[in-house]
Amino acid sequence: MALPPTIAELLQFDRASEGVVAQGWVRTRRDSKSCSFIELNDGSTARGLQVVVDAGCSDAALMPQILTGASLRVRGDLIASPAAGQRWELQARSLEILGPCDAAYPLQKKGHSPEFLRSIAHLRPRTQLFGNLLRVRSRLACAVHEFFQQRGFHWVHTPIITSSDCEGAGEMFRLTTQKTNEVLGAKGDFFGRPTYLTVSGQLQGEALACAMGRIYTFGPTFRAENSNTTRHAAEFWMIEPEMAFFDLEADMTLAEEHVRFMASHMLQNSTAELEFFGRFVDKEVQARLEQTASQRFERISYTDAIEILLASGRTFTHPVVWGEGLQTEHERYLAEEHVRGPVTLYNYPRAIKPFYMRRNDDGKTVAAMDLLVPGIGEIIGGSQREERLDLLLEAMQAQGLESSDYDWYLDLRRHGTVPHSGYGMGFERLLMFATGISNIRDVIAFARTPGHAFT
Ligand code: 4AD
Ligand code: MG
Repeated sequence: MALPPTIAELLQFDRASEGVVAQGWVRTRRDSKSCSFIELNDGSTARGLQVVVDAGCSDAALMPQILTGASLRVRGDLIASPAAGQRWELQARSLEILGPCDAAYPLQKKGHSPEFLRSIAHLRPRTQLFGNLLRVRSRLACAVHEFFQQRGFHWVHTPIITSSDCEGAGEMFRLTTQKTNEVLGAKGDFFGRPTYLTVSGQLQGEALACAMGRIYTFGPTFRAENSNTTRHAAEFWMIEPEMAFFDLEADMTLAEEHVRFMASHMLQNSTAELEFFGRFVDKEVQARLEQTASQRFERISYTDAIEILLASGRTFTHPVVWGEGLQTEHERYLAEEHVRGPVTLYNYPRAIKPFYMRRNDDGKTVAAMDLLVPGIGEIIGGSQREERLDLLLEAMQAQGLESSDYDWYLDLRRHGTVPHSGYGMGFERLLMFATGISNIRDVIAFARTPGHAFT
């Protein structure tokens, strides 16, 4: 038996056809004297199918009951549409209301605020904005696999439950069973030791790269950062490649190629969605993607970036001091005003970076890199890893980490250690860049942020 066609498939038909069935939700309805026009959408494409209901439809009497949001099955003839911008429309012969929808449906009217839409996260996928976003999210997720599969990478799956704090920042969600007797403490807990939701698959990714050469992970990541910003979520998806025999230079080259690939992919494969985002969300989005896809990215060392910020004549809210982390305002100045495009910063001060980054010969910096894009700031963070056992132990001690907790990780340096590097790309940050949507809460279907875990 053939699968029921999607509206996207019907709109691609190469000839007029009789007895076609279309199913979906009513997006809009317009009435004229002799007929009604329904825009039917099923999520398969940005455009809906125009359904014309007139006296030729045996169920035309149902029309007064059909409001926005109702689900329908329509049988009719696909005919050339006289309306501009659409090839086909469906002349209804009969129709069936699968699920009626009344005036209580919150999307009966258009033009709701993003805040209101977040409060109906289960219904907002039916809006044009979220339909477009979710289609782009799906397409770009596949593009991530295309990018790595074309370059000899293996997709690996690192655990979500972990006992190591990769970033050493103490921003982990603790995991326990509902039944755990608090008196027994962590030792009496399910795993016999404290466990957490992962903040990064990197450490396990390193073990896999030090066997498989080039790997990547793409999965959910959790951070208990209590920062209520438009760029941070407590649950987000991260893409983490890890490559044996890559130094920082190669790591940066791959990261730049990756961002460029994603921008070109968006331009070539999500044209209808991109047009929508350009019209209703951010006029600059297409130009920014075109620039990203075609331009060479700049690279600036952290130390030079500090000089540039100091010489900018700008007053920043956070002072610019060598040895301190860069704030979003600094990153955005560099990407948006200094470079006017994507830029990679590298060689950060040792003291502000995690223990696993490789120490540079100057003794003060590590082989770290952050890739910044206009409008967002950091989209990628990565580094060459410290492959020398003695220096790694020293870095762990300096950061107050117990080396016995990381014994397996140290083993990678004891048995056939190799230079290796990797990075993490925040998938939601990438989507913000690709669509122009300015709040991370609006690029994931069900956002988790401090105080919010609706559904
Ligand atoms: O810079 P981060 O913290 O790096 C790591 O986790 C490394 N272990 C990655 C690696 O080398 N394998 O995070 C990487 C990226 C950031 O650049 C950002 O895009 C995203 O993950 N990110 C977040 N996205 C949304 N919400 C948050 N709370 C995020 N924290 C990081
Ligand atoms: Mg970072």
